[in-house]
Amino acid sequence: MNIMQNSAASEVARRRTFAVISHPDAGKTTLTEKFLLFGGAIQLAGEVKAKKNRISTRSDWMAIERQRGISVVTSVMTFEYGGHVFNLLDTPGHADFSEDTYRTLTAVDSAIMVIDAAKGIEARTRKLFEVCRLRDIPIVTFINKMDRETRDPFELLDEIEKTLALDVTPMTWPVGRGRSFAGTYDLGRNTLRGLDSEETPRQLSGPDDPQIASFIPADEASAFRDEVELARDGSKPFDLDSFREGHLTPVFWGSALRNYGVRDLINGLGAYAPSPRNQQAASRMVEASEPKMAGFVFKIQANMDPNHRDRIAFLRVCAGKLQRGMKAKLVRTGKPISLSAPQFFFAQDRSVADEAYAGDVVGIPNHGTLRIGDTLTEGEELVFRGVPSFAPEILRRIKLQDAMKAKKLREALQQMAEEGVVQLFLPYDGSNAMVGVVGALQLDVLAERLQGEYGLPIAYETPRFSVCRWISSDDEMELDRFIEANRSGMAHDLDQAPVFLAGSAFLLQYEQERWPKIAFADVKDYQ
Ligand code: G4P
Repeated sequence: MNIMQNSAASEVARRRTFAVISHPDAGKTTLTEKFLLFGGAIQLAGEVKAKKNRISTRSDWMAIERQRGISVVTSVMTFEYGGHVFNLLDTPGHADFSEDTYRTLTAVDSAIMVIDAAKGIEARTRKLFEVCRLRDIPIVTFINKMDRETRDPFELLDEIEKTLALDVTPMTWPVGRGRSFAGTYDLGRNTLRGLDSEETPRQLSGPDDPQIASFIPADEASAFRDEVELARDGSKPFDLDSFREGHLTPVFWGSALRNYGVRDLINGLGAYAPSPRNQQAASRMVEASEPKMAGFVFKIQANMDPNHRDRIAFLRVCAGKLQRGMKAKLVRTGKPISLSAPQFFFAQDRSVADEAYAGDVVGIPNHGTLRIGDTLTEGEELVFRGVPSFAPEILRRIKLQDAMKAKKLREALQQMAEEGVVQLFLPYDGSNAMVGVVGALQLDVLAERLQGEYGLPIAYETPRFSVCRWISSDDEMELDRFIEANRSGMAHDLDQAPVFLAGSAFLLQYEQERWPKIAFADVKDYQ
């Protein structure tokens, strides 16, 4: 290995690419701001906050975001701390955008699960956790809002263990709770850290060290001592392999708002979370340390300016080094694409901003060339697996007010589908196109954008279908027979894959029982 390869390998090794999963209001935004403060990217921290109340006049569909007080924009935040490069991929917080969130989770190597100490595991946390589990993404847990009234810590640990079927290992223990919350105690090292501004925690002799008394009242100090013993005796020791395989979660406690426990968490993430993983492609496993660049697009963000239809494709680099100005191959079309103006998200260090390594995410401006799921390489015919599409829960037929614009509508819908705004289904019988979404808000976004960017006013009609599944079979003849028998309920998706539309879950089940050789999938990997 020469020096170049060596330095590339160490760049990869120091990267941690992660997301924060939580139920709305648990403190994800607050925690994100604190992370960025650690990385010195203070101006970015302000932006995170600003995002929530942003006043934008850029386009109508941004207005929807504003009205509903949610953020449609997924962003990437990169910061350096403690010798590590952290890439934090923001997952949109609102339930309506779950599809985007799921796709973002295909691009991370680990996740932080934020739990509100008063509430425990909430619905959305659980759902996101299940997605992480499907992909064996290791989870670090942060129990937030310890400065407020909380549930019993043991009860919270128990709930994580039982409801998520996950081993838990507390790494720290809260010193006091609620009003008297005063810091965190490292169970392995016997150190105590007050505020996060304390870089080096103080070394104690143990949980009965008299110094504890200067942090919390005497009665709480004795309860603390008992709890620490119980926590040590009652929990599994931390096992790195088990964590990396997604079976065990290390737990940290704190208050993101009041600056407690966040340093423990980020130190833990740096120490234990995996560096960029090897990535499965259709033909082979691609190792993060390979010299040739390869990556996949997991997210497309439309330009906010309605006059310019350019988009930013977010590429997760999986191997090699991506450099400004390099030419890559877009495997789907076989055509070269020039990476003349990739956007790097490093906040501080300009010298590294011209190149990205495995684990990094780069924004590539383009005019519609790139789609979700696309693979870019230096020439090899690789196709990465695993940017999924989920069967939509809401189907609508598009009704165009001006029938002369049917072709334009078709093009616009194709583009929106490529961006992942909606899924597009073209019925075999030639009737009007249908769109599918996971959350209803996506329908408003689509209508606003068709009007604002393409001058196409549309209305929605509720079709007689409410459920859809991708169908396939090892037996081609049987598949043809199924399609023939169900022609009025068949459509193609964006990739020409056959989709079966059913009037109800009951009818779907009925067909499934009648056609045992046909597979009905509710998740589809992009090809
Ligand atoms: P989210 O992104 O997960 O939705 O949560 P966010 O960080 O916006 O936090 C939700 C609310 O909880 C905010 O209050 C925030 O200040 C508060 N919060 C976050 N972390 C802590 C914590 O450790 N302790 C306490 N006590 N509160 C915390 P808000 O009043 O809704 O918003 P704001 O007016 O403060 O912006």
